[in-house]
Amino acid sequence: LSETYFAPRVTLDDFEAAALTALPKSAFEYLAGGSGYDVTLRRNRSAFDNVEILPRILTDVSSLTTKVFFFGREHRFPVLMAPTAFHRLFHLNGEAETIRGVNQTGTTLVASSFSTTSFEDMQAASTRPLWFQVYVHPDRGFTRELVERVVAAGAEAICVTVDLPTNAARDREARAGFEVPPGMSRVNLERLSANAAHALHSSENGLYNSVRAANVTWSDIEKLRSYLRIPLLLKGVLRAQDAITAQKVGCEGVIVSNHGGRALDGVPATFRVLPEIADHVGDTLVVMCDGGIRRGTDVLKALASGAQAVFIGRPYLYGLAVDGASGVTRVIEILYAEFAMAMGLSGCASIAEINATLLLKRY
Ligand code: GLV
Repeated sequence: LSETYFAPRVTLDDFEAAALTALPKSAFEYLAGGSGYDVTLRRNRSAFDNVEILPRILTDVSSLTTKVFFFGREHRFPVLMAPTAFHRLFHLNGEAETIRGVNQTGTTLVASSFSTTSFEDMQAASTRPLWFQVYVHPDRGFTRELVERVVAAGAEAICVTVDLPTNAARDREARAGFEVPPGMSRVNLERLSANAAHALHSSENGLYNSVRAANVTWSDIEKLRSYLRIPLLLKGVLRAQDAITAQKVGCEGVIVSNHGGRALDGVPATFRVLPEIADHVGDTLVVMCDGGIRRGTDVLKALASGAQAVFIGRPYLYGLAVDGASGVTRVIEILYAEFAMAMGLSGCASIAEINATLLLKRY
């Protein structure tokens, strides 16, 4: 183990550095990699660094609160855990370990449909209602069955991912020879077909994927909306016009996302397109954002640009890989502490005070 591994871990980036040592190379590359040249992956981060905060001075921040409300529930601070696949790649106990860590933080996890633990078992272990991420599967009947199953098990919202109609050029994981190890499967999909649940993730390096439908259209979203009784968020929105259509078909929210730079390389940073989307639908939809959030100041900047909340994905998995449940907790608590400091130092005592005037210029 390298020196980095034993150094104190102070930031989310420190957990990434430690995960590089803790994980087999192929799992690290699957997790850390983007697609293509990783241009979008890098832009997600640099976009935040390119925008400056203009603090308000001499405001009383002695009773600062990070609390925020959406979909009828209070959240301790405006950060959720993004849906991420295959937690058993990063810890022997997989999602159960993640949930133990998240439970300590009062934050909400979005369970991935590609988890290595069933949604029912995840929800049973979680102290808060989980959200659930789903793809539209080639078998629409199965998609409905899965969504109804998770709602029955207590899911609070559904995020439907729409930015991967075909496979993406995941060059880094392919080069590292990444394959989902034998014995690890997407248990939620077992009834889709034995093949689908066990199909190796990257062995399908053709254009299409046997699990995700390539013919998904707005009518699938309308259909989903018609039988779903809980909030539906469209995940993977980059164009304002698509956010407007999401609203027209009845979605309650949009997640401005480029799949963490893992779908189409060359698309803009999410932080760059967030303001325009929030301008168009922010009054009527819950607008959220993910991609490149690593510091409390990133959370502040995203909120100042119109997001009601943001997601982190890779960072909590780095925590999981490095130190199990306590690593997950630590990553979230670091971000919480940084965000509270960013609010205080910029003169904001409550979330409502975070607005576009806090930024020198919008992206
Ligand atoms: C799955 O959605 C992934 O990004 O690997």
